[in-house]
Amino acid sequence: MCRPVGGALVISLAWLGGGLSNACTQQEDLPPGTGSGAKAPTEEDLKAQAKELFTQLKPELVKNCGQGCHNTAVAFKSAPLFLAPPDEYASIKGANGMVTEDATASPLLNKGEHEGPALASFADLATKVFTWLRFEADAQGKKILPSSAFVAINAGANEIDMSPAGVAGVKIRFDAAMPSGILSITKLRVFVPDVGVKKGAKIKRPLFYRLRKDNKLYVDPVDSFSYVDAVFPGGVETPLPPGSAIFAVPEAWTPFQAGEKIRIQVEKMELGDVVDPPKLPACKNAAMFNTLLMPSLTGQGVGTGVTCSGCHSANRGLNPVVVPADANATCINFTGFVNKTTPGQSRTILKAADGATTHAGGKVTDTNGFTTTWTGAITGGQIFE
Ligand code: HEC
Repeated sequence: MCRPVGGALVISLAWLGGGLSNACTQQEDLPPGTGSGAKAPTEEDLKAQAKELFTQLKPELVKNCGQGCHNTAVAFKSAPLFLAPPDEYASIKGANGMVTEDATASPLLNKGEHEGPALASFADLATKVFTWLRFEADAQGKKILPSSAFVAINAGANEIDMSPAGVAGVKIRFDAAMPSGILSITKLRVFVPDVGVKKGAKIKRPLFYRLRKDNKLYVDPVDSFSYVDAVFPGGVETPLPPGSAIFAVPEAWTPFQAGEKIRIQVEKMELGDVVDPPKLPACKNAAMFNTLLMPSLTGQGVGTGVTCSGCHSANRGLNPVVVPADANATCINFTGFVNKTTPGQSRTILKAADGATTHAGGKVTDTNGFTTTWTGAITGGQIFE
């Protein structure tokens, strides 16, 4: 039966890319994985949604923050009026700076305990205010962000196709469980298809939205993955840290039943270059370094006469640092002072044993022995990376 629909419903339907014209069909459950049903909201949708969110939280906000202070300022003359009747919405969006470009910067959230209580002392209300502020910020920034379609979530393995957000074939995969109606996801990872040598998908700030059975849309109130901003390499599946999330907000996210839908919005998704993680310095064979070369640095064998470790010690920070008890560290420290292509030109040899090179530490007694030992060890290619 097709009935006219009320404000909130119209708004949420608009999110689905429909409108009043086909509201009756869209009111039904969406076909699974439908792409067309999940067009990004327009600026008007965002504005309407933001206003609706405010309308919902207004009574509670007025009750806790009005109190003759922020609604009429009769109790405190200096209190900023941001809930002035009759149009509290116009008031709070007015010139008082409560609605900020970055939702987290709003004084509403940041004003601690003052003559009045901090908003944080009403946890539930604070969450609602934060959600509302984020819709306001999105509407203000006219940011229509890319998103996946709505996908039905079931217990066990799930996959959300992120192609509609910008890079074809990208999937966000996770295991879902919904004990006691609380959606919990684990083993979260990103799969990117092969997109070229050293290429991947750059993904910024994935944000989960739940579409409730009554077509109301709710956002992850804590923005669990806000810090994600990375290029995920192509051809493989990569964990999405921290790898899990729990959506426990009453009403907005609970109870969550199998088959209900979510979508994942991203602030950005595009092809990008995979940056190799910085190569950690390493030593190929610390034991061999210890046997063959350490004695020459600690004053035994060929090095007798100049104990390198006396000056090149960790507490003096003089490079290359010699740590007699740690061959691996010392080997790594000396790696930058050996020349694998022309071992005889290694800085270590030039400094310690070559008469033509100045060295504040002087020369070893047996310059030939030192040179032979080091050139041999470097030439063997077994010790230094
Ligand atoms: C008396 C202190 C002293 C001793 C002993 C000493 N050095 Fe040095 N060494 C220095 C100082 C000071 C420098 C920096 C100034 C210079 O290059 O002369 C230096 C520089 C070096 C450098 C160049 C570092 C750079 O940043 O380019 C190398 C390599 C080096 N030493 C190796 C050795 C080796 C190998 C030994 C032992 C056989 C040794 N040194 C013994 C004081 C010492």
